[in-house]
Amino acid sequence: MEEKTGLFVTFEGIEGCGKTTQIARLAEALRQKNFDIVVTREPGGCQISDKIRAILLDSNHDSMVPETELLLYTAARAQHIAQVVRPALDQGKIVLCDRFCDATLAYQGHGRHLDLEIINQLNHYACQGTTPDVTLLLDLPVSVGLGRARSRNAQSETLDEDRFEQESLEFHQRIREAYLLFSQQQCERIKVIDATGDFDEVYHRIATTLLPILTSRLSDK
Ligand code: TMP
Repeated sequence: MEEKTGLFVTFEGIEGCGKTTQIARLAEALRQKNFDIVVTREPGGCQISDKIRAILLDSNHDSMVPETELLLYTAARAQHIAQVVRPALDQGKIVLCDRFCDATLAYQGHGRHLDLEIINQLNHYACQGTTPDVTLLLDLPVSVGLGRARSRNAQSETLDEDRFEQESLEFHQRIREAYLLFSQQQCERIKVIDATGDFDEVYHRIATTLLPILTSRLSDK
């Protein structure tokens, strides 16, 4: 395997935690500091994985069984890692990725109750040794997150992508608790960001957490 030179940062959280807009702002700020940034997301990030995303999130697909869902997420991940993430890291870039393996453990594992060991194996197989250096978990109460996500979707005229937002409050509560559990089990990698409050406040928390880590990790490489 080639030596890794870049930095892989992932963002996680429940629906409506604000990670997508925060990532966009962060990328802009880092580019101004002359960092070489790739912004990407899962499921998706490349043509094949975006097609899998459309299948996964289509609200007409409520007959999809959890096993199919798991295999599609990890299939999309294998393609995305090989085609986008790994090449960018090999070129020394900073990859900011909206969701990654923790999402599969949280949603398909704790949310859908699929076997965590099988998920770990599939994640491992899809990633071929590429793992995040840092993960920011944007945490907020489920009621606040779902409220934000639903009002965003009501305003959006784009693809219908709300299959998960139709799940019960208990489902989303399990996801939040799972993420918080992971952050306790892997506190070196996963940093919890309080995602309540206005956009600028949350951005400030993200920047003050991440910038020192970026600077020190990149100087170690
Ligand atoms: P997004 O809304 O953050 O773009 O993510 C799309 C949805 O996919 C979101 O509801 C979380 C879900 N998801 C999983 O269930 N498992 C996964 O592995 C990933 C990456 C996302």
